[in-house]
Order: sequence, then C-alpha cells, then structure tokens
Amino acid sequence: MARVLVTRALPGSALDRLVAAGHEVDVWPDQLPPGPDELRARAAGCEALLTMLSDRIDAPLIGSLPELKVVANYAVGYDNIDLDACRERGVVVTNTPDVLTDATADLTMALLLAAARRLPEAEASVYAGDWRTWEPAGFLGVDLNGSTLVLYGGRGRIAQAVARRAEAFGMRVVTVGRGDDLTAAVADADFISLHAPLTDQTRHVIDAELLSAVKPGAILVNTARGQLVDQVALRAALIDGTLSGAALDVTDPEPLPPADPLLQAPNLIVLPHIGSAGKDTRARMAEICVDNILAALSGEPVPSNLA
Ligand code: GLV
Ligand code: GLV
Repeated sequence: MARVLVTRALPGSALDRLVAAGHEVDVWPDQLPPGPDELRARAAGCEALLTMLSDRIDAPLIGSLPELKVVANYAVGYDNIDLDACRERGVVVTNTPDVLTDATADLTMALLLAAARRLPEAEASVYAGDWRTWEPAGFLGVDLNGSTLVLYGGRGRIAQAVARRAEAFGMRVVTVGRGDDLTAAVADADFISLHAPLTDQTRHVIDAELLSAVKPGAILVNTARGQLVDQVALRAALIDGTLSGAALDVTDPEPLPPADPLLQAPNLIVLPHIGSAGKDTRARMAEICVDNILAALSGEPVPSNLA
C-alpha cells in the first residue's frame, strides 16, 4: 500500500506490523545516518518516514515529497523536524512521549551521581595503579542528601520523574519552568539539571551570564539537548572552577569530535546520547512510531500527533 522509509534499523519487531498491514518498508541499512541528499533520494515516493533525531526533516525535504503524510520521530524531542513546514503541508508529525521518561530520568540520576561522587576519576585511579590505600580525604564528592537540585524545564514529564528520584535521595528539588527566573534559582543550586526541549527560547539558556550567577562549585547535568548549553562558556566554567563538574548525555554537535576543546575541560563526563537506551524502552518507542504511522496512513486518530 504505502512506502515507508525507516532511517535506521530498530530494536524489537515493531516494523513487522507495517509489513503485515501491506506496506512496503525500506530500512536504511547503514550504521551512520543518511546524508541530506541520500535521505531525499531514499524518501522519494514515501508516504511515511520513521526518523531519528539525527535526521534533519526540513522544508526543502518536505517540499520534495508530495506523497508524504506522516513523519514519526523515534524520540520525544522533535527539534530536528520543521514542524511549521509539516503543518503547512498537512503532514502529521509524531514523537514518542511518556515511554522514555523513566529511562531518561534514570540516566539523569546516573550522571548526577557519577559527577557528584567523581566516579570516572576514581575508577581511572584503580586502572592506573594509583590506588595505594584507603584515604580519609580521597575523592571527596558532594553528598546528595540535603543538597539542592534545580530542574530547568521542571514541569515536564522527565523533570518530574527526576524530581521523584532526587527526593528519594534526600535532595531539595526546585523546579523552574521555561518562563521562570533560572538566574535567581541557580544561586542556591548544588546541581542543575536540564529537561527542556530545544527551542529558540531555550537555546544557550546556560551561557556565560547564567554561569556567573551559579553557586560556586555547582554541578551541571544535561540529558535534554546539547544546544541548551553554550559549550565555550561551559568549558571556561569548568576550568575556572565556577562549576565543579558537568555531566552531559547530549552535546553540540553530536557526535562531539574527539578534538573538541570541551573534552579537555576538567571534571567532565560525556556520554553518547543514551538517555532512552533501555532495551524495553527502545522497543516500545518503535511500537509507538508504528502505531502512529498505521493510524496516519489509515486516516484514524493519531496517538502522538504533535499538530
Ligand atoms: C532523545 O533525545 C529523545 O528526544 O527522545
Ligand atoms: C519533555 O521532553 C518531557 O517529557 O519532559
């Protein structure tokens, strides 16, 4: 019936349901994403795209696909998609909300704990043979109990899930909405964690000016989008000790080139954008994308329609 392009092989068996419904499913075979020209060529004639956050779905691409009915993004974030251009064309756009909330909140706590207790540094000392004896003042970190955590994007699902976890660790949680005064909030924060989508309003919300207002020695955690942080300012803040650590699951760009100056900064943890990478979570994300595509192609109400 319809041609569906899936821009990367997905875990689980969700795509079988597209085939069973009679659709022609084309899965991009490479580990690396298609470039813009490859994507345009491969998507020609498709009514549905199942896309990754590493695919740029922009107005020229949408303009080149007159048959396109639905773009199902395999992510909760959708800053890679020109939503206005899709709306203008009547193309439905969907994401995968809710299902990855706990996985991403878990990873946020993993990063927060790793930075607070200096896990990478402590582990490296073992492998380097530098661990000679138990030390009363060795690898002193920040105690979570009694500390203050500021959650930016604090009314979102992921932030709320982090808040529940943090409260169980005895942290005082302060949630800051996208319209609230983050500068005032960070003056008391031992930890700042970012949970807002990337928009023109949130781009570089963590910049030199904001960092000049943080409580000295605070730790920054980012599991949202790399562009929320001005990485030049972040590097400076890690070097001069304004921040005692930063733990990032997301960077700008992704991947961060190994020669990027940020990677030379002290007390930094960088992960390769694995927030939702739980086995069940990633399989369920694929099921949600398929539910959305099947509904859009058959003209039924689309569960995660972002219209
Ligand atoms: C991952 O970053 C997502 O938006 O799902
Ligand atoms: C937004 O990404 C949210 O679910 O909080």
